[in-house]
Amino acid sequence: MSEDIRSRIRNKELWNKIVSAEEAAAIIKPGMNVAVSGFTMSGYPKAVPMALAERMKKDPFKINLWSGASVGKELDGILAEVNGIAKRMPYQTDKNVRNRINGGDIQYSDIHLSHMAQMVRYGFMGGKADVAIIEVCAITEEGNLIPTTSAGNAATWVQNADVVIVEVNTTQPAALEGMHDIYMPLDPPDRQPIPLVHADDRIGTTYIPCGLDKIKYIVQCDIGDSLRHLADVDENSKAMSGYMIDFLKQEIKQGRMPKNLLPLQSGVGSVANAAIAGLVDSDFEDLVVYTEVIQDGMFDLIDAGKLKFASGTALTPSPEGLQRFYKGLKEYKPKIILRPQEIANSPEIARRIGVIAMNTAIEFDIYGHVNSTHIMGSKMMNGIGGSGDFARNAFLTFFFTNSVAKNGTISSIVPMCSHFDHTEHDVDVFITEQGLADVRGLCPKERAKVIIENCAHPDYKPMLLDYYERAVKKTGNAHSPHLLDEALSWHTRFLEKGTMKI
Ligand code: COA
Repeated sequence: MSEDIRSRIRNKELWNKIVSAEEAAAIIKPGMNVAVSGFTMSGYPKAVPMALAERMKKDPFKINLWSGASVGKELDGILAEVNGIAKRMPYQTDKNVRNRINGGDIQYSDIHLSHMAQMVRYGFMGGKADVAIIEVCAITEEGNLIPTTSAGNAATWVQNADVVIVEVNTTQPAALEGMHDIYMPLDPPDRQPIPLVHADDRIGTTYIPCGLDKIKYIVQCDIGDSLRHLADVDENSKAMSGYMIDFLKQEIKQGRMPKNLLPLQSGVGSVANAAIAGLVDSDFEDLVVYTEVIQDGMFDLIDAGKLKFASGTALTPSPEGLQRFYKGLKEYKPKIILRPQEIANSPEIARRIGVIAMNTAIEFDIYGHVNSTHIMGSKMMNGIGGSGDFARNAFLTFFFTNSVAKNGTISSIVPMCSHFDHTEHDVDVFITEQGLADVRGLCPKERAKVIIENCAHPDYKPMLLDYYERAVKKTGNAHSPHLLDEALSWHTRFLEKGTMKI
C-alpha cells in the first residue's frame, strides 16, 4: 500500500485540498500556460499530466508547456503523443516532442535556461503562468514547498502562477529537505549582485515560498522519475577525458589555475559524464562543481573523496545512480546544493567564480563556431539548454564531440556549421577523440589549421585542408576565408550518401 501523503503535509488545514489527479487536471483549460517543476528527468509532476493527457484523448485541446528543462515521458511524452502541446519552452529531449517540433505541430522556443524565469516575469512568453504544477516531497506548516530532486524554475512558477497544484511524490524521500537553496533575484532596475561567492554558499531558503492560500489542490503521486541509463564510457570518451586532464595539468603547471582546479561545470550526456568520471582516476583533489546537472560521475568523485562540493539545479542520475544517491543520502546531502536554474546557470556567478565549462557539440567548424542543437541545419535535436549560459561566461570553455557521426559517414568538423549556437568568441578548447585544439588567442586562420590538424578525423582531414587552402587563395587571404557555395553545400554531401534524411 502506498504511503499516506498526509504525513508529508504538516498543516492539517491543507488535508482538505487533497483531490484526485483528474479533479486537479480539470481546472486546466485549452490555451492555458501550464508551468511545471522538473529538470532533466528529475522532479517533474506525473499524476496530473497523465490525467490531463487522458482528458485530451477524449476531448482534444492544447496547452503551452513551460518547464525547467527536459521532463520525462509521463509529461512531455504523453502530452506530445496526444498532440496536446501548442508551445513548448525552454528545453526538451523527448522523442515525441522532437518529432512534433520537427513536424510543425509544436512551436518550440529554445532559450538559454538562465533566461527563462526573467522572461516569464516580464511577460515576454505570452502572459503569466495560469497554473503551476509542482512536485514536492513535503509541504511545511506555513504551506511552503519542499522540492524533490530538482529546483529548476519551480520557485518562479509558484511566484508567477494564479493557481498552484502540488504533487506530493511518495517515491521521493522527505529527507531531501535541506538540500535546496531557493533564491530569486529582483528584476532590473532593482536587481542587486547575487551574494554568492563560493559554490557552497547558501543564500536563500530550503523551501519554495508559497503559502497556504495559493495551494489550490494537492495530489498524491507514487510514480518515480523515468530516468535514462547512461551509455558505457567508450574508448572515444576516455580519450577525450584524457586530453582534457592532461591539458588541465599543464594549466596548473603554468600557474593559470589552482591545484584543485576551478569550479567545474559539465553538460548533459555520456561524453560529459565520462569527462567527469575520468577525474576519478586523476591526481586532482578537493574539486568543486558549480554546474547545472549532477550526474553519476559526480557521485563517483564524492565516493572517491575527490569532490568537496557540488552545486547544481538538478540531479540527473541514471536509475542506478538515483538508488545509490537515496542509499547514501546522509553522506551526499551535506555536499550537494540544488538552486533555481537562474542561479545555477547565472552568467554573473560563472564569471565571478571562474567556471571550467565542459559541453558537447553536434558539430563545430574550422573557425571555431559550434552547433549544439540542429541536425543538418534544420532539425531540432534537444536545444541549447545551459550550454550558452556557461560557455560564454566561463573562465575556460571546452567543447567535445566525436570527430565523426553516423558510422563515420559524417564529419563533425565542417567548414561552416549548419546552425550556430556558440560563436568563435566563446570557445577556448575543442576536443575530439583525435586530439585537442587550444584556440585561445588565435586568429581565425590559425584556428582553422589547429582544429583541422588536431581534431578532424583522418578520413576528412584532406577535404577540410583542401577547402581551407582554396578559400584562402580565392578570397585573397581574407580574415575568415570561405567559399560560400561550397561551405553551404558541404552538408549535402552527407545527405547524398544516403545516411541522413531531412
Ligand atoms: N551530424 C549529424 N548528426 C549528428 C552529428 C553530426 N555531426 N553528431 C551527432 N549527431 C547525431 C547522432 O548520430 C545522434 O543521432 P541519433 O539520435 O539519431 O542516434 C544525435 O545526433 C545525438 O548524438 P549523440 O552522439 O548521441 O549525442 P550526445 O548524447 O553526446 O549529445 C548533444 C550531444 C549536442 C545532442 C547534447 O549534448 C545536447 O543536447 N547539447 C545541448 C544542450 C547542452 O549542452 N546542455 C548542457 C548544458 S549544462
